[in-house]
Amino acid sequence: MAELILPLDQPSQRHALALVDELGDDVDFYKVGLELFTRAGPGVVRALHGRGKRVFLDLKLLDIPNTVAGAVRAAAELDVELLTVHATGGEPMLTAAAEAAGGRLRLLAVSVLTSFSADELSTVWGRPVSDVEAEVRRLATLARSSGIDGVVSSAHEVSALRDSLGPDAVLVTPGIRLQGGPAHDQRRVATPEQAVRDGADYLVVGRAITGADDRHAAVVQVVESMRAGAGA
Ligand code: C5P
Repeated sequence: MAELILPLDQPSQRHALALVDELGDDVDFYKVGLELFTRAGPGVVRALHGRGKRVFLDLKLLDIPNTVAGAVRAAAELDVELLTVHATGGEPMLTAAAEAAGGRLRLLAVSVLTSFSADELSTVWGRPVSDVEAEVRRLATLARSSGIDGVVSSAHEVSALRDSLGPDAVLVTPGIRLQGGPAHDQRRVATPEQAVRDGADYLVVGRAITGADDRHAAVVQVVESMRAGAGA
């Protein structure tokens, strides 16, 4: 059964932990991203562990292999379970990251940021790109063949990635919304049920829960929808 991860897109450790404490036993896996980690540092990861929570560190690492390997070792010492790296770091960086992880945590590759249009990618990469999803699949395959455990992808790519990467790849999907809920700034959204049916292992669900009047009820709804997708 797929699992729910709640992103702590919060401006401070105090705000983040207030949300964690409010959700209590409803959520046990949290994503710490660049803003919160830059403000609060490893202390917020330790505070989450102190509350018995699991941590996905979403730092989207991209640097020379030696530097990324050092950061991966540091994250492994922090006991995080999931950590992101950019697939565009290439095979040497990805291999170095995988070796540094040594099975102590699972690495996820980010392929093409969803904020990129085909035109913007063409400009940055200096060659015409017309099919962004083909680039996502190409980079995901590169990451997997370099020893990376899985990928973060939009819900609309999960099904194709599950087909091309096979059953062992870890697939993590943001952009999840409850039926009829607002999309906010996400361009391509899916329900929990659809994402799980398409083969996602972890759903990153933020505002569909944090923006709800009754957050507990929203978690229950998300989990029920995930169960429906799993055929449970
Ligand atoms: O509030 P919402 O459910 O849209 O939050 C989604 C989370 O997933 C945020 O932390 C966001 O940074 C992250 N994310 C995303 N789209 C991506 C990659 C990550 O929304 N392509």
